Amino acid sequence: MIILLAPLVSSLLFGVAGISLFFLLMNRCLLLLEDSKMKTLLMYSAGLVLVGGGFVLGFFLKHPFWMLFPLGVFSLLLLGELRELFLRHIHRGSPPIYTQPHRVQITAPITTTDLIVHHYQVPHAKVTRRIRIVHITDIHADQRFPRDYYKKALATAESYQADIAVFTGDFISHIKALPCLADILRPIAKTASYAILGNHDFWVAPEAISESLCQAGLHVLKNESHVLNIDGQPLAVTGYDFPWGTKDEAIAQQPSDHLHLVLTHTPDNIYRLAECSADLVFAGHYHAGQVRLPFRGSMIVPSIYGSRFDHGHFVVGKTDLFVAAGIGASYPPVRIYCQPDIFVVDIVPAQ
Ligand SMILES: [Fe+2]
Repeated sequence: MIILLAPLVSSLLFGVAGISLFFLLMNRCLLLLEDSKMKTLLMYSAGLVLVGGGFVLGFFLKHPFWMLFPLGVFSLLLLGELRELFLRHIHRGSPPIYTQPHRVQITAPITTTDLIVHHYQVPHAKVTRRIRIVHITDIHADQRFPRDYYKKALATAESYQADIAVFTGDFISHIKALPCLADILRPIAKTASYAILGNHDFWVAPEAISESLCQAGLHVLKNESHVLNIDGQPLAVTGYDFPWGTKDEAIAQQPSDHLHLVLTHTPDNIYRLAECSADLVFAGHYHAGQVRLPFRGSMIVPSIYGSRFDHGHFVVGKTDLFVAAGIGASYPPVRIYCQPDIFVVDIVPAQ
């Protein structure tokens, strides 16, 4: 009996180790590559080698000595997960003061258009009056989705009467959706609406999308800052225009009394931004994982930090980071146990 079971147990252990390594490779490397046939080929090849190879190899390496290999992989991955959990805890900010209209229900896993609004409140020494910011990201406008969904989402954001609106990229995933984007976009804040592009926008048609945003009345920031004054409160808004955050161009220093908002598509550059004068950083890109498991959370997050900053409010040094799930979904165009969202952030005077 043991002789019969040994290859099956060994195959299972090696196979699960292969699946774990495949997820690690996907999250940290493959998903960061530009969409192309080569990327698809690499993903399938890695899956075949690590997952398929794991099951097959385990079937033949059934001696107890070889079990050290998958057990070693599990131990290293567990240590990595514990380290991420610790760092996530260190950087964790405050939860939303409320969420509207509801949280995900266990009996309704498909949440693709179940939009919610998370409302945060952050005290800050630089403000003398409340500044309300509405944060929208990853619209991924898709002509196959009901256009009313996007219009309703923007109307919801507008109803909060924010001082400033910030859009942090990934407006469309396909050029066919450009007319849809032009139809739904408009300024939705009292003072100004700012935008940067995301990786999908750069892959599709950056010039055409930028033009569409400008025509819709949004200020597109390309590695530049815009200084404004809201009823005596000075602010600077900087758009960091490198969607992967891999470049070293510094964010220009702003006057110390200006509340400095930085828009970046991915939060992967948060440690560098925190060393600059960024007071608040707004980001998207991760879609909060897009597929989340109950009691586990995100499984696939295209970040060098795994799920450390996958969604919510974080504090890095003196910088507040907000990472929203976004309104749309990319490939596949579905969200599971992961509601699309808008952030409303009130910056209030510190007591
Ligand atoms: Fe996205």
